[in-house]
Amino acid sequence: MHLHKMQATNNGVNLIILLPILLLVIPCTPIARAADPLFIICIPTQNYTSNSSFESNLLLLLKSITSNTSLSGGFYNTSFGSNEDDSVYGLALCRGDVMPEVCQNCVINASRGIVEQCPSGKQATISYEFCQVRYSDQNFFSMMVHAVKYPNWNNTKQDILDPDQYTLILNDLMTNISNRAAFDSSGNMFATDEASLTSTGRKLYGLGQCTRDISRDDCYKCLRGEVGDIVGCCSSYEGGIVVDNSCNLRYELYRFYRVEVVPASPQPPPSTTSTRSKDFVYFFFNPI
Ligand SMILES: *[C@@H]1O[C@H](CO)[C@@H](O)[C@H](O)[C@H]1NC(C)=O
Ligand SMILES: *[C@@H]1O[C@H](CO)[C@@H](O)[C@H](O)[C@H]1NC(C)=O
Ligand SMILES: *[C@@H]1O[C@H](CO)[C@@H](O)[C@H](O)[C@H]1NC(C)=O
Ligand SMILES: *[C@@H]1O[C@H](CO)[C@@H](O)[C@H](O)[C@H]1NC(C)=O
Ligand SMILES: *[C@@H]1O[C@H](CO)[C@@H](O)[C@H](O)[C@H]1NC(C)=O
Ligand SMILES: *[C@@H]1O[C@H](CO)[C@@H](O)[C@H](O)[C@H]1NC(C)=O
Ligand SMILES: *[C@@H]1O[C@H](CO)[C@@H](O)[C@H](O)[C@H]1NC(C)=O
Repeated sequence: MHLHKMQATNNGVNLIILLPILLLVIPCTPIARAADPLFIICIPTQNYTSNSSFESNLLLLLKSITSNTSLSGGFYNTSFGSNEDDSVYGLALCRGDVMPEVCQNCVINASRGIVEQCPSGKQATISYEFCQVRYSDQNFFSMMVHAVKYPNWNNTKQDILDPDQYTLILNDLMTNISNRAAFDSSGNMFATDEASLTSTGRKLYGLGQCTRDISRDDCYKCLRGEVGDIVGCCSSYEGGIVVDNSCNLRYELYRFYRVEVVPASPQPPPSTTSTRSKDFVYFFFNPI
């Protein structure tokens, strides 16, 4: 599998770069629900003690993230603590297309989940379909880290009529999305797009997003790296997802995201896709 990539830096020196190898990954089930984490990264070698000021700062941080992320356009970063021993840095990011209440609920779940699933870890990342939460005792803001993870995608091999065309279009689509997510004037670092597969008449739908603490250039670099990863891991599948500390990419053969509301245009009719995303149960497989 592709998890070996995460272990490639085993004998590095830089702690931040080292983090990926220390991962304790709790695999997700083949069919995950929106309420289940896609993945969790927990660093079990560095623990805080209970009742420490680190712990109380972490709880303050999670509280702050929970109350502020959906109000802040789906991204919020903050820190608590006054010295090296008790400082904690954290952020939450909601998927760019979700409604504020979905964002809010997801961050609530993630803040609970990260403490439950990584008890006493000084660094952790948890990722759900609609949001991700990350904290660390180190200041990681604005540092792009490539710690790619492929949530379970293995069990949904598809019959692709024209794999060469599929791969080309996938690569092209994801490259366009990377470009738009990084450099879009909104600064939201989020983009979706679709492309037709001419041989079948079906469409590929893609989504890319970065955490907004990193620069546009780093966002582009992060996503471009993931384009290679997602084509490498997943181009013989009906869908794929690559998640990272700083950016995420996903594609499916069905529209899995809410269509973006274009400002200054009339309100679109209630979209069936929002109902659909609530019922979302598949990550890599479209049953239709
Ligand atoms: C940290 O805590 C985890 C879970 O409680 C435990 O499994 C692990 O051994 C601890 N690590 C250290 C270095 O104490
Ligand atoms: C933490 O504090 C609570 C309440 O102050 C106390 O009941 C508990 O024993 C403490 N735990 C540790 C490990 O010190
Ligand atoms: C939310 O953020 C504001 C600043 O943007 C801060 O004053 C407030 O304390 C935060 N909320 C919580 C619960 O920490
Ligand atoms: C939050 O968790 C609850 C209970 O597990 C679940 O019903 C709900 O769908 C979750 N919400 C999100 C947005 O993940
Ligand atoms: C991937 O799927 C193949 C064939 O279905 C199976 O043999 C293999 O064990 C799977 N690998 C993982 C990591 O699940
Ligand atoms: C990518 O963008 C270019 C330039 O805008 C466009 O010509 C091309 O059709 C796009 N490709 C896909 C797959 O969206
Ligand atoms: C959030 O991250 C940015 C870096 O992108 C940093 O400059 C800023 O200080 C952080 N905000 C807080 C409250 O720590």
